[in-house]
Amino acid sequence: PALVVDFGAQYAQLIARRVREAGVYSEIVPHTATAAEIAAKNPVALLLSGGPSSVYEEGAPKLDPEVFELGVPTLGICYGFQYMAQTLGGEVANTGLREYGATDAYIPENGSSLLAGQPVAQNVWMSHGDQVARAPEGFEVLATTDATKVAAFANEERKLYGVQWHPEVKHSDHGQAILENFLHRSAGLAADWNSDNVIAEQIERIRAQVGDARVISALSGGVDSAVSTALVHKAIGDQLTAVFVDHGLLRKGEREQVERDYVASTGVRLITVDAADTFLGHLAGVTDPETKRKIIGREFIRAFEKVQRDLVDEAKASGEKVKFLVQGTLYPDVVESGGGAGTANIKSHHNVGGLPDDLDFALIEPLRTLFKDEVREIGRELGIPEAIVGRQPFPGPGLGIRIIGEVTRERLDVLREADAIAREELSAAGMDQAIWQCPVVLLADVRSVGVQGDGRTYGHPIVLRPVSSEDAMTADWTRLPYDVLAKISNRITNEVSEVNRVVLDVTSKPPATIEWE
Ligand code: XMP
Repeated sequence: PALVVDFGAQYAQLIARRVREAGVYSEIVPHTATAAEIAAKNPVALLLSGGPSSVYEEGAPKLDPEVFELGVPTLGICYGFQYMAQTLGGEVANTGLREYGATDAYIPENGSSLLAGQPVAQNVWMSHGDQVARAPEGFEVLATTDATKVAAFANEERKLYGVQWHPEVKHSDHGQAILENFLHRSAGLAADWNSDNVIAEQIERIRAQVGDARVISALSGGVDSAVSTALVHKAIGDQLTAVFVDHGLLRKGEREQVERDYVASTGVRLITVDAADTFLGHLAGVTDPETKRKIIGREFIRAFEKVQRDLVDEAKASGEKVKFLVQGTLYPDVVESGGGAGTANIKSHHNVGGLPDDLDFALIEPLRTLFKDEVREIGRELGIPEAIVGRQPFPGPGLGIRIIGEVTRERLDVLREADAIAREELSAAGMDQAIWQCPVVLLADVRSVGVQGDGRTYGHPIVLRPVSSEDAMTADWTRLPYDVLAKISNRITNEVSEVNRVVLDVTSKPPATIEWE
């Protein structure tokens, strides 16, 4: 792989994604990895990320200097660039001249593989206080800005390169082209990482891991579990059983999507557990959000354990419980949890409703190295319907945490209708890309007066919560066009008789969370 050395910025993941977009498989390693550890991964290129520190500060993140002796083509970015400069005998200083944001870079004629042929003047994205005051010996300066004498350099012979700016952000006009130059020209790598290869490679891996054992998979209807299940099915066919728990808190059409469209497109053997009565029975009278979540999580596990008991591993003469479980863990989860080494047990995972640590399974995680957009791509490749692959995030506890107040069948029906209308109109207006998700919430314990036809009504409000977000950690409310909001409001109040008012949530996260409970 191409390895991205993480110096502690949020940029490492972005760099890794851009490298993959250039058709080269990438992984992230911490800057504490030794040269030997890095070499053991057989890197074809190294990219050193930016970071928040000054290279000469005490405690600034370091990298084993032997890394520069490995003979692997290396590109330093921002902090990585300065670190390379300092380590190889150049000079880094704080000149008092800072650059933040859009900056003009000047790239005179040069013969480097990194910047040759690049526009002489270009807009680059900067974010630095320190700068490289002198390039190390043997390095050619490739670019300058008004404030920075050494904004990029190269040692073509040693295949060492650096840029002060951030080519991985879209605000750098030719950023991707520069990363591609580094990968394809400087490092001579072919652009051969694509979803076909991922699928083929994963299939081989899964077969080797599983042998003839049986495997189960919890389908939630979400993207990650849908794609990981389909991949495993492609590898081992009917050794896999997918389990879908209908807890009665699903959105309109969701069960049909899984039972009909998903099964038709993948051929997966599916067990649906009809558990709505059980779930709703336990939720009766409960209004506290955390209690609701706990009940839903607990009942989910019970349903799942029952399936695990009922299914036996036919490959074992003893007919033991099934030992393998498919999990839709993605690369950001792996990186964020300290990354790399495979964890033996299941962490409580949103997507499958919170399976606990002590469920005794060996995990199959075919999406462990992938980003969300790559997962969607693979899902499409595997023929999973767009309605599932393109889905917005939906919480495991489902509509149960979108009814403020007690969850009942009647209230679920009301919310389900309102939610279906909102989703339909948002899609029709082409808003699906603009929003991250749009929870629709029923304020079941609130009533307000309305007038409809000739009569007074006393109904419930529905809240629309459209949000824009990168990762759900922070979010802003989406400025939807008024006419789209008007259409949704009209339809909901006309078609859902218990609702006589639609309101818009205009709060960012923080301070509010995306969901209401
Ligand atoms: P909050 O409400 O915490 O939500 O801002 C952040 C994101 O997580 C989703 N969410 C969940 N997803 N199980 C899930 O699978 C859950 O229990 C859960 N709670 C919140 C929420 O929809 C949003 O995308």
